[in-house]
Amino acid sequence: MRISFGDACQRLLNGEVIAVPTETVYGLAASLKHPTAIDRIFAIKGRPSNNPLIIHVANASDVTFYASKLPNGFEALAESFWPGPLTIVVPVDTNIISSNIRAGLPTAAFRIPGNPLCRQLIQEVGPIVMPSANLSGKPSATQAIHVESDFGIDFPVLDGGACQHGLESTILYYTDDRWQIIRLGAISAEAFKPILGYLPEFASHKDEKMPICPGQLYRHYAPKAKLLLTATPESNVIIGFSDRQYPSTAKVFLLGPLSNPEKIAENLYAILRQLDLEEIETAWVDMDFPKSGLWLTIAERLRKAASK
Ligand code: TXA
Ligand code: MG
Repeated sequence: MRISFGDACQRLLNGEVIAVPTETVYGLAASLKHPTAIDRIFAIKGRPSNNPLIIHVANASDVTFYASKLPNGFEALAESFWPGPLTIVVPVDTNIISSNIRAGLPTAAFRIPGNPLCRQLIQEVGPIVMPSANLSGKPSATQAIHVESDFGIDFPVLDGGACQHGLESTILYYTDDRWQIIRLGAISAEAFKPILGYLPEFASHKDEKMPICPGQLYRHYAPKAKLLLTATPESNVIIGFSDRQYPSTAKVFLLGPLSNPEKIAENLYAILRQLDLEEIETAWVDMDFPKSGLWLTIAERLRKAASK
């Protein structure tokens, strides 16, 4: 159910959960001031309680208020990438950020969304807590219709059209005097080099006892269809690129041109969802693309979507 901006503000202030557009993916939003609404987010999504949520704010000064300490480089990152698809994890005052948001961790994740409608909403109602607006494990929602397909036609959605980036924010975490990427996302690792003076490394999530980004441990972004990432086509259903030739007998789902990784990112989840709408059982994914920049995020999402 599409709702107006005024209705969206009112519902958040009343302690309801609604879906909201951001420039990355749609979010399932509750006001930071309503802990029971935040609990409802976990229930609605079927999200494990040990997977913390991102707090979306309108100003970097809000983060300064909640943080117990700001790591070196925080200001430079915030100035360069906010508003935008960067999430920064910082240690917080655990007396003011409730434990359900943090999943009991001593840190919280923050970002200022680039989508103007979303920022305006936060200016009206204060900080909002949002995970991606999809059932846990499914591809994120990049259009209002994806949210309705997961949560039902009556679920309240503030419709902001299709999301600009189509991939979640990149998440940075400060440890051992360095920023590390704990989730690849819409900003590529290379983009941080001019700001930080080094290329942040991608943290490994091998130690399941000490997750630094709990969400990375779960299966994600997955359609019902089985995705094959083998070197050569093993299905006559293909997920591929508009500027490449495939066998004429194949049914091809086009992500967009290889020359435009931003376009591929924007379309990726919609195509994964389309497979299920068309009841495709198995599809082969053309993984022959560059191994740098945004392509690394695209490859990581496809690998997660294909994993069992
Ligand atoms: O682009 C995005 O980031 C979208 C939009 C709606 O803002 N949100 C999003 O939220 O992708 P979600 O909940 O689907 O993913 C958040 C990720 C999870 O993997 C979670 O484990 C991690 O952020 N996270 C949240 N708080 C954290 C913390 N304190 N420390 C480490 N990781 C954290
Ligand atoms: Mg998510």
